[in-house]
Amino acid sequence: MEEVERGNNGNGNGASSKGVSGKGISIDLGTANTLVWDVQHGMLYNQPTMMALSFNGGRHSDVLGVGESAEELVGRSPDGVEVVRPLRDGVITDLETTRRFLREILADIAPTWLQRRRLSVVIGVPAGATALERRALLEAAEEAGIGRAHLLPEPVCGAVGCGVDPLAPRAHLVVDIGAGTSEVAAFGAGGVLTFRSSPVAGDEMTSALHQYIRHEHQLVVGELQAEQAKIRAFSDPSPSMVVEGRDAVSGKARVVNLSPEEVTEAVASVTDEILACLTGCLDDLPPQAVSDIMTEGVIIVGGASLSPGFHKRVEDAFGVAALPADEPLSRVAEGGARCLSNPDILSAYDAA
Ligand SMILES: Nc1ncnc2c1ncn2[C@@H]1O[C@H](COP(=O)(O)OP(=O)(O)OP(=O)(O)O)[C@@H](O)[C@H]1O
Ligand SMILES: [Mg+2]
Repeated sequence: MEEVERGNNGNGNGASSKGVSGKGISIDLGTANTLVWDVQHGMLYNQPTMMALSFNGGRHSDVLGVGESAEELVGRSPDGVEVVRPLRDGVITDLETTRRFLREILADIAPTWLQRRRLSVVIGVPAGATALERRALLEAAEEAGIGRAHLLPEPVCGAVGCGVDPLAPRAHLVVDIGAGTSEVAAFGAGGVLTFRSSPVAGDEMTSALHQYIRHEHQLVVGELQAEQAKIRAFSDPSPSMVVEGRDAVSGKARVVNLSPEEVTEAVASVTDEILACLTGCLDDLPPQAVSDIMTEGVIIVGGASLSPGFHKRVEDAFGVAALPADEPLSRVAEGGARCLSNPDILSAYDAA
């Protein structure tokens, strides 16, 4: 699989110098990260879903940065500049900002109006997106100049990105744990059988860790530090790590040692809620579908699924194999692009 590291190509927002192939792209517009995957060229864009805007007389005016260049300003933006996230909990919170965000990305990837007009695009949407949310996305895509947009459920795209055929007469269960939303969906034979969504995912894990450090260690840290500490704890196998902050009482700078077990404990309530979504889905399904899933296992995608211990908890709770994606953050985008090459999948799952 082709890989492009975030923002390493020096053109300002991480867009590949290859640009679009003309065969179509898929967009995974996530709460934390936005990815664009070209059917032929693979990953074109992988950046934080953030935009820095100048703020003039109570209104946003110019776009000062998109993606990583906007993220760099978080917590240090000068007066008159605001860093905004167009999505919260997997849902568009500000249609105008989302439109501008999509426009900026697409203008880099497909610079001419004609290129954008000719583009076929799959946009991933939460399985639980409302008609209003879906319409907002379609409007944003149209405004950005996209010729033809299909909306496909993100969990289905994620599973297709892992090699699943969503038209085959078998049930599959996929868990997508992103930053703002966790979704569990069962699907097969060209349709979604059932799903559960929860606005509790990676961002909530960060908040839980933030509060844990405050209550258990009386240390105040920034949200960004808590996010970095969470990822470090989950990626680095060392027995403990140092977190810097201010003492909650004296206000003086202080450090604490945090063990990976503590981090796992801090995020346990979030994991519990995701497992409850899994239980709900399995309860909805007929025995044959459950049997398919028990035989195949549960497909797991999304960045926050990298939390250690999650896979084991799924296996212990349900007695079913957990099948973690090897590139959990990019499977939705890759799967969306694969769906674009298959008109039968598009007509079966298009939620536009
Ligand atoms: N190694 C890691 N361990 C734990 N969490 C991680 C790790 N790497 C990334 N994450 C978390 O994954 C989340 C981002 O994942 P992803 O890009 O799949 O979300 P998203 O698609 O932007 O969000 P959503 O699907 O909810 O709209 C963040 O909360 C981030 O903290
Ligand atoms: Mg996502």
